[in-house]
Amino acid sequence: MRTPLLAANWKMNMGRQAAHDLVNGLLKETSEVKDREMAICPPFHLLADVEKLVAGHPHVYLGAQDLHWEDSGAYTGEVSAPMLLDVGCQMVIIGHSERRAMFGETDETCSKKVAAAISHKLIPILCVGESLEEREAGKTADVVTTQLRGALTGQQIEKGSQIVIAYEPIWAIGTGRTATPEMANETMQILRKTLEEIFSAEIAQEVRLLYGGSVKPTNIAEFMACSDIDGALVGGASLKVDSFAKIVQY
Ligand code: 13P
Repeated sequence: MRTPLLAANWKMNMGRQAAHDLVNGLLKETSEVKDREMAICPPFHLLADVEKLVAGHPHVYLGAQDLHWEDSGAYTGEVSAPMLLDVGCQMVIIGHSERRAMFGETDETCSKKVAAAISHKLIPILCVGESLEEREAGKTADVVTTQLRGALTGQQIEKGSQIVIAYEPIWAIGTGRTATPEMANETMQILRKTLEEIFSAEIAQEVRLLYGGSVKPTNIAEFMACSDIDGALVGGASLKVDSFAKIVQY
């Protein structure tokens, strides 16, 4: 049984007051929701504030948006797994397509980051997804399984709950275009089969697979109705109490 997970990726948005209002509003609006989990992934400067706000809400995870694979050292501007633990994180997004496209993230760096997260008992939310050209050329399965194998082969996990995968078609991120639920679910099944090959059938059944890309209150229910979609990674619609609370309450 996979508990639904609705994850908010704030990207490079929000200040301290806005974060305070958003998190308090969300906790109030979703206080009756017990059968699903939430993750909030603010930018680094807000982690300590959000940690205080979500303390005492065990169904709400705190997540970062990236990390460095080394524990410490001369890496100006970087933040490590022990630092994320120190501020109370339980999760960390790795390999978001924006980091792959703009900041040189590769399957190799994702692999090192996933290993660092797992070894420090942080749950990586590993992102995979194809571009429009790749989808139109019929390469979706190839692209996402290569990304998955590149980041996960050789990782040591005992349970599927130690990792989360987010499938985010690049052409659906921030565009208002979404994959159809059928399209997304078909890719999820390919990912789950690949997880079975990398780890085991048991682990593959336990891993939560999130869909991301223009998720809104109006389309979340149809994604959540799919057999292999266990939640969502939400950008734009996670920045307002009303829209993210509705997504959590799908
Ligand atoms: P949008 O929900 O704004 O399309 O962003 C999706 C995303 O990139 C989440 O990580």
